[in-house]
Amino acid sequence: MINKQFDIVVFGASSFVGKILCEYLVNEHKEANLSWAMAGRSQSKLDTLKKSLGSNANAIPCLLADSMDEAALLEMCEKTAVVISTVGPYALYGELLVKACVETGTDYCDLTGEPQWIRRMISRYESLAVETGARIVNSCGFDSIPSDLGVQILQKASLEKFGSYCPQVKMRVVKMKGGASGGTIASGMNVYKEASRDPALREELKDWYSLCPEGHEFIQRQKSVDCELDTDFDSWAGPFIMASINTRIVLRSNALVEGFYSPDFLYDEAMLTGNGKKGEKAAKRLARGTKVGFVLMAVGPIRWLVSKFLVPKPGEGPSPEQQMTGHYELGFVGTTAESESIRATVKGDRDPGYGSTAKMLAQAGISLCRDVDKTEVKGGFWTPATVFGDKYIARLQKYAGMSFEINGAGD
Ligand SMILES: NC(=O)c1ccc[n+]([C@@H]2O[C@H](COP(=O)([O-])OP(=O)(O)OC[C@H]3O[C@@H](n4cnc5c(N)ncnc54)[C@H](OP(=O)(O)O)[C@@H]3O)[C@@H](O)[C@H]2O)c1
Repeated sequence: MINKQFDIVVFGASSFVGKILCEYLVNEHKEANLSWAMAGRSQSKLDTLKKSLGSNANAIPCLLADSMDEAALLEMCEKTAVVISTVGPYALYGELLVKACVETGTDYCDLTGEPQWIRRMISRYESLAVETGARIVNSCGFDSIPSDLGVQILQKASLEKFGSYCPQVKMRVVKMKGGASGGTIASGMNVYKEASRDPALREELKDWYSLCPEGHEFIQRQKSVDCELDTDFDSWAGPFIMASINTRIVLRSNALVEGFYSPDFLYDEAMLTGNGKKGEKAAKRLARGTKVGFVLMAVGPIRWLVSKFLVPKPGEGPSPEQQMTGHYELGFVGTTAESESIRATVKGDRDPGYGSTAKMLAQAGISLCRDVDKTEVKGGFWTPATVFGDKYIARLQKYAGMSFEINGAGD
């Protein structure tokens, strides 16, 4: 391991999710001998944050860097083994940091749910990351850790039990309680804004395999769930908004896993709405709402009105009480080529997007510097499932309120 001043720098420490993450590292999860610093563009915001964290934070250094100041980012990256970034929308503020990490061989993880930006970063920086040894890991929050690692544990269990991976897996959101922050909404709105003026990008966003390596040969037609009765879960199901990023990450994992889960791997996600007439109505409402939402958000003035008056602003998000009382449960079903089935469940405490996401991201940064050997995992753009192994899952179960369980073979 290269000797750097810090193990981790948290860039965007004063963001909504960054504050929760720093609180977690300072007062909840004290990783032994971890040297880390908080970083951001505003000294006064960092000072306020440090004060709010109490005396345990007195010794944590603060670094200043603007995401548009390449020299400051390079200087920051030279000092640390890993950068955790919560500065988003990443498509607006993220590129120079990825570039600085790649140039200095610094490992990096973030919370982006913007597939078009990940694609751009892979095209521009992957070959240099391979040379310098920087491991870049996007989407280390609720999107897409539970999906990607849920599929991974299911596939490992299938290999052990049936001797083969499942060519078909689905994830269903069984329960979920939480809210959205201004930063997440701004990132989503920016995808619509970019897509509304770029027809090629609209096509790219429809491409299930947009994050797979160039020259991939996947042709299997993937399915998006609209409204359907799911007999595996005895429930109606409608679209799950995060499927647009999670499916791309899981399909990239399939491409990067040695030997593939399957060259014809099929993966979909949906949200359960309950059984009977009530469940059916809720699934139809969800499907209609999602379609109408997509159409409306493509219209600039409507996007502006919604951002201005209806949704949280950047820096705002769910209340501490909402974060603490939030939770989620995701169910996975895999089917082998011989029609055997196997199930897994991933659960988490706190609201998925913030309370839980902050813990997942913090542990991703720690795992990158403590558990993922540079000689075993080389530089490049990895997915959570292809860079992190059992040690990370153990961390999430021990320190981040999550559980990963195999429920055994189905009928
Ligand atoms: N994957 C997931 O599950 C998940 C969950 C939650 C959030 N997210 C994503 O995470 C990101 C953060 O969300 P959030 O709600 O915490 O956002 P937020 O509160 O709006 O914070 C954005 C951060 O970016 C910083 N920033 C903006 N421009 C900058 C610049 N030029 N230089 C340096 N820093 C700059 C802001 O600095 P100041 O503090 O100084 O204003 C702030 O710290 C978003 O992209 C969101 O989509 C993903």
